[in-house]
Amino acid sequence: MTKIRASITGVGGYVPDYILTNKELETMVETSDEWITSRTGIKERRILKGENKGVSIMGIAAVKDMLAKTKTDPKEIDLIIFATVTPDMTFPATANIVATEVGATNAFSFDMAAACSGFLYALTTGASFIESGRYKKVIIIGGDKMSAILDYTDRTTCIIFGDGAGCVLLEPTTEEVGVMDSILKSDGAGESYLHMKAGGSRTPASQATVDGRQHFVYQEGAAVFKFAVTNMAEVSAQIAERNNLKPNDIAWLVPHQANKRIIDATASRVGISEDKVMMNIQRYGNTTAGTIPLLLWDYEKQLKKGDNLILAAFGGGFTWGAVYIKWAYNPN
Ligand code: UT7
Repeated sequence: MTKIRASITGVGGYVPDYILTNKELETMVETSDEWITSRTGIKERRILKGENKGVSIMGIAAVKDMLAKTKTDPKEIDLIIFATVTPDMTFPATANIVATEVGATNAFSFDMAAACSGFLYALTTGASFIESGRYKKVIIIGGDKMSAILDYTDRTTCIIFGDGAGCVLLEPTTEEVGVMDSILKSDGAGESYLHMKAGGSRTPASQATVDGRQHFVYQEGAAVFKFAVTNMAEVSAQIAERNNLKPNDIAWLVPHQANKRIIDATASRVGISEDKVMMNIQRYGNTTAGTIPLLLWDYEKQLKKGDNLILAAFGGGFTWGAVYIKWAYNPN
């Protein structure tokens, strides 16, 4: 029987208009443009401003962008998965809100929380629904409104993150393109290094948790950095090796944008030169689940049918992984 694969047939994205520069951060915390640029590669990030605006706003805009570009009728969408750790509310799922707003009235939808690896987890899950033969059009969104959970008095975290969302459309194909392989990993021991202390069922919100600034990202940066460098590089090398991909066979490395030094280490481990590494960290910072689809959105016009892409991520959980994709279409 011919194998059904899930191919990416469209990409959409959205970043908010407001640009928070390193210069502006210098007025908010004890930091400098020089420190942020040399330690992370980030120059600016986008922030979603305004009351009552959740991550759904960005997910909806990204999906509408993709639907318009691919001329897809939203009523044909079977499933929407939204990878995020900053949902509009704990429940209902933000994916439900997006589905209704974009007119995907025949879809079922749910959220997935795997922090910075969320898009890879959701992509692999969505691909499995397609490969099963039961579903024909699946939207995978990755996005976060990190500004909602950042302490803008903590210079170790507020300089890194930004807001944004991207999405892809998955459809079945019998050609040798699409999601070819994936390796996904998690290790709950990572909890102590990267988490949000309160607001969940273990420590519900209270006056004390608000006073204690416990509703923000807590990160032990140097420890996370060490795990990220090792694991993102290893899993990328592993997926290349087990698919017999030599550096020259790989058209693009598509790495989670957490820190340029982690990206460089991953590229070097896989033997990929800088010109084949997608990078937009300088403009958007770390948008958590948004980084990888936003890279695909930015680079879509440079991608050709048959290009081999290695997507790789590492983040809170810990979670990490790599996905091997053969690109399915040429630019218009
Ligand atoms: O995407 C999810 C997963 N997250 C990651 O992958 C992030 C991984 N970690 C990192 O990217 C880096 O660890 C950071 C960018 C967060 C920090 O860079 P670092 O080179 O690891 O710095 P550090 O935490 O070891 O701190 C070095 C020094 C410290 O000062 P002392 O103790 O040496 O005097 C910090 O207080 O740099 C100081 N520092 C800053 N200085 C100026 C920390 N943040 C800042 C800042 N501006 N914003």
